[in-house]
Amino acid sequence: MQDQLSALLAKAAAELPAIKNRPDFESTKARYVGPNGELTALMKQMGAVPKEQRPAAGKLINEAKGQLQVHLDAALARIGDAEIAAQLGPAVDPTLASPDFGPGTQHPLTLVREEMCRILRKVGFTVADGPEVETEYYCFDALNTPSDHPARDAKDTFYFPTTARFGNVSKKVAEERYLLRTHTSSVQIRTMLKGEPPIRIVSPGRVYRRDTTDATHSANFHQLECLYVDKNVTVRDLKALLDYIFASLLGKETKTRFRPHYFGYTEPSFEVDLTASHLPKVKKPWIEIGGCGMVDPTVFEAVGYDPAVWSGYAFGMGLERLAMLLYGIDDIRYFYQNDLRFLKQFA
Ligand code: DAH
Repeated sequence: MQDQLSALLAKAAAELPAIKNRPDFESTKARYVGPNGELTALMKQMGAVPKEQRPAAGKLINEAKGQLQVHLDAALARIGDAEIAAQLGPAVDPTLASPDFGPGTQHPLTLVREEMCRILRKVGFTVADGPEVETEYYCFDALNTPSDHPARDAKDTFYFPTTARFGNVSKKVAEERYLLRTHTSSVQIRTMLKGEPPIRIVSPGRVYRRDTTDATHSANFHQLECLYVDKNVTVRDLKALLDYIFASLLGKETKTRFRPHYFGYTEPSFEVDLTASHLPKVKKPWIEIGGCGMVDPTVFEAVGYDPAVWSGYAFGMGLERLAMLLYGIDDIRYFYQNDLRFLKQFA
């Protein structure tokens, strides 16, 4: 019987690896362990084995059965894998570039954002991040913007229902509301609360206002914020930095000018205009590009910096406006429509 079992196992070991599909597998399996299978036939012979040899013969058969099962299981697993592979089709490398659309390009807003960050890094600024969901404290109160200021009006600002919870956005006081940040100036506060001066950060990011969309407005757009805190910082430093960054981005011809303005978080405050008549589609001699000023002492007090020791400047500007100037884009909506005819021009 031992010889017969060994022969049977050898045959199964040779035969099973070649089987390709389930029907063949089932019929082959039946030839061994089905009602008329070869192993079944050997088991039936047990009755004829003398009683004293039966335990040994039974053991042999059980071992053979176990080994056969190993071959059967392996064959079935292999067939199952092949079925899945057939369903998936030929192997795809998702990291390869799409054959349909070419290598892709960076969005013009990304290009301008990265270029501005590069220009600012060269003079010691580091990139800081802040949440797009903000609280009233970081967006307004700490920036010396009182609760009756128009920027806080529900007509201008997207507030969340009082039941909304954002575990990753820390509140200063429990009862304050969450909102979509209306400007990146909130990152000034979060950065100053986290660290000690000197501070030199640039923070680009998305902001939200209740604006009706037209060629120059969008309910969400992007800003770039800068904050510098150190000893003896002056308006000259602020003007020099703005001159440097706009000349770097838009060309040496670009000049800037300050117009007096009011922002709660800076004193004095200015609006910044620049000349860009050397750029395509720019018709006006001066273009308004952002707001700036010297950090108000109240803001330093809010973050625990001594205003008698520390001074600083801050400014914020719209990235879309910059990109529109630089590339001669005359409608803000192009940035958000994902039209390849537009995007491909920045390849
Ligand atoms: N947060 C202002 C806005 O959204 C822009 C701005 C003005 C930022 C003055 C500043 C600043 O940092 O000092 O219109």
